[in-house]
Amino acid sequence: MSLAEPFPSVRVRAPGKINVYLEVGRLRSDGYHDLATAFQALSLYEDVVATHDDDFVIGSITGSVETIGVPKDERNLALRAARLLAKEAGYHGGVRLDISKDVPVAGGMGGGSADAAATLLACDALWGLGLSSGDLGELAAQLGADVPFALMGGTAVGTNRGDVLNPALARGRFDWVLATSQVGVSTPEAYGMLDRHRDEHGAEIGYGAESPEVEADVLHALRQGDPRMLAASMRNDLQAATLRMRPDLAEALEVGESSGALAGLVSGSGPTIGFLCEGADSAAELAQTLEAAGLDALLAHGPVPGARIIG
Ligand code: C5P
Repeated sequence: MSLAEPFPSVRVRAPGKINVYLEVGRLRSDGYHDLATAFQALSLYEDVVATHDDDFVIGSITGSVETIGVPKDERNLALRAARLLAKEAGYHGGVRLDISKDVPVAGGMGGGSADAAATLLACDALWGLGLSSGDLGELAAQLGADVPFALMGGTAVGTNRGDVLNPALARGRFDWVLATSQVGVSTPEAYGMLDRHRDEHGAEIGYGAESPEVEADVLHALRQGDPRMLAASMRNDLQAATLRMRPDLAEALEVGESSGALAGLVSGSGPTIGFLCEGADSAAELAQTLEAAGLDALLAHGPVPGARIIG
């Protein structure tokens, strides 16, 4: 081991997320929408192990969720994160990335974004770059709108594309059951569906706010650690669009909401549905009920910390 390479490998863990509030504003000229969102990092994690290599490669992709659809080539956001960091920092070597996934793939829970965030932090340590969290956050925002939050974790309000973050005060613990789905939903398609719906029915439903804002009730509920208040104030503007593409999810929402959840909500663009529960016991009971109804259910709680080096 040379002095220039103090670690043979670095393991970083980054969380998935749920948007407990997601107001979608107007479509911008860059193809994105202005958002106001409240993120909560959940206890489903992605682990990325970065090891010195001459090239940029994904070694293995494993985990508790189905990983068949995850690309190992340049479409992989973690690989793009490593290349971007090397380019920006003028680093001339490469890296091998081994990824272990517990966040459902293409589920609207930011699993790919967590991989990218974990990779930025892991490669920064592996290559001894010492970038500030602000610098890493800027690179994260270039990779995707949800990547900065996976670095930060906890609870945060996101504006602009969802990538301009302000930490939000949150007390206590919120217990969730996540109903997952084998077939993913494309995020651009969900936004596109919302745009078309607004084009056709804007006179009745509105065209989206010019300056979306997270409602005070949501922030108050998070500050109080009050799941009932949060359940009453959750919102996701993408939900109707996702349900139009995936009517089966409406049924899953119905089952959860009539079986003890305080409220259910599509996570981001879906198809994962988050059911907020009164506490850990009622979450465990609901997960059993959903499983008995033939749905796949995962337990998680939030908020949890953002990307961090472990082991
Ligand atoms: O940034 P990310 O790659 O996660 O975004 C995926 C897609 O989701 C974008 O290409 C865009 O179609 C849509 N999106 C959006 N407005 C946002 C975030 C995402 O329209 N604020």
